[in-house]
Amino acid sequence: MRRWFVVLAAALAGFVVPAAASQEKPLREPDVIFVPTPQEVVERMLELADVRPGEVVYDLGCGDGRIPVTASKKYGVRSWGFDINPVRVKESLENVERNHVQHLVTIKLQDIFELDLSKADVITLYLLPQLNVKLIPQLDKLKPGSRIVSHDFNMEGVRPKREVTMTPPGGREHRIYLWVTPLEKERRN
Ligand SMILES: C[S@@+](CC[C@H](N)C(=O)[O-])C[C@H]1O[C@@H](n2cnc3c(N)ncnc32)[C@H](O)[C@@H]1O
Repeated sequence: MRRWFVVLAAALAGFVVPAAASQEKPLREPDVIFVPTPQEVVERMLELADVRPGEVVYDLGCGDGRIPVTASKKYGVRSWGFDINPVRVKESLENVERNHVQHLVTIKLQDIFELDLSKADVITLYLLPQLNVKLIPQLDKLKPGSRIVSHDFNMEGVRPKREVTMTPPGGREHRIYLWVTPLEKERRN
């Protein structure tokens, strides 16, 4: 396993305390801390997901709202962002307002593991490998032809349709995984 992957997964799992600690209490402890996806990677994730007019994009664990804001601004589609941390929800709402996409983006304080995903056409993830796996029962209920894109982390047991890597200027290598529903489960021996 590459070293950056271990460091990154540890940081996201909260073993590294973020510089700006939250003053407000989340619904419960987040399963993963906020680490933003670089804007270039956000754009590539949405391209890979092939967002089409009239579709609905859900970002599960939306952080500062950059993915729903970008999806709505660039593709004119309706987007939803869900986060368990009220500080992130506030930042997302500010981001939505700054970018004048209030008519297209909805931000909710919600635990993603209690969400019905059936209305989404595209799901974006930047969580952790084990959280991607925990989402499988919910992702199995997506409409056929829905796309799921995950920044950096795979979903063990489900074969991705595509895997790409990219290195934004001055940054590290990022990996993006794409799945299309129905999910193609790998055979266990
Ligand atoms: C690594 S950040 C990704 C943020 C954003 N999606 C991006 O790519 O820039 C993960 C986010 O998930 C949120 N989160 C963690 N556990 C959650 C849960 N059970 N339900 C909703 N949000 C959660 C965290 O508060 C954090 O903002």
